[in-house]
Amino acid sequence: MTLLKTVIAFVAVLAASLAAAQAGESIEMCGSAPYYPSEYTCYGDETPMLCPHVYGRPTYPCSGACYSPSMYQCCSGQLHLLPAQTGAFRLEVHSLDEQLHGRIAEVCNLQFHVGDEAETCVYCFNAPPQYVCSTYQNETVLLPSGSMSVDVPGGQYWYVDPNNGRLRTTAAGKAAGPERQLAGKNVTVYQEGYFSYDGSPFWLACKESGRGQLYGIFVPHLLDDHSNCVTIKLAAVPTTEPKEGAYSYT
Ligand SMILES: *[C@@H]1O[C@H](CO)[C@@H](O)[C@H](O)[C@H]1NC(C)=O
Ligand SMILES: *[C@@H]1O[C@H](CO)[C@@H](O)[C@H](O)[C@H]1NC(C)=O
Repeated sequence: MTLLKTVIAFVAVLAASLAAAQAGESIEMCGSAPYYPSEYTCYGDETPMLCPHVYGRPTYPCSGACYSPSMYQCCSGQLHLLPAQTGAFRLEVHSLDEQLHGRIAEVCNLQFHVGDEAETCVYCFNAPPQYVCSTYQNETVLLPSGSMSVDVPGGQYWYVDPNNGRLRTTAAGKAAGPERQLAGKNVTVYQEGYFSYDGSPFWLACKESGRGQLYGIFVPHLLDDHSNCVTIKLAAVPTTEPKEGAYSYT
């Protein structure tokens, strides 16, 4: 390890160590650099290198840099962005906030939410044999094209509201309105990786006032008031079951 890297790693360990120290975690050594295993992983035997855990997830070394496997892959020592997600997926929160970390985003009132009180709200038109309501699992499932995983004629779409940055869906079917044109705009979904707006994986989870542990999801630079918000990342978790979504979301 070069001197510079050692210094950077050491400063980073000191800066990040308070929580680990309070939790009574013991320090380990990576070459000559001390670190807390809850906050860093030590890679390599000959020239050991520390990579930090970011939002509870490990990062990995690639030619002397640390990268997130939710956005990049390391091929022959070079970093490349992941390819785009192709199939249906659910949205999982990565966060330092333990209440939110690992939660799956759910749609109700045509808005995406996370938190204890989040739920998926659906409507189904039972018309066998084409639409059999009991076959839908009613989970919040998205497609990378900007569609929700629905069967309602006319479809249903996810988009970011340009007025306040809120992640939401159109009304189902013919009621979609002009918002339909915003479907999936400015969002890149990396394969089993980040759900990223304008190249950034960061979103805000903001408490809905008077609704307990219910958080809406917003693009930071489109929202004015960041009080009651925590920074999160959203990651695509692929799903393969055909009826995991809903007939439509309400
Ligand atoms: C999904 O929602 C529909 C409509 O409310 C309902 O008929 C169906 O039983 C639900 N599916 C499951 C697995 O609960
Ligand atoms: C969305 O992307 C377009 C094209 O890159 C850009 O001009 C526009 O400002 C973006 N919209 C927002 C709300 O960031």
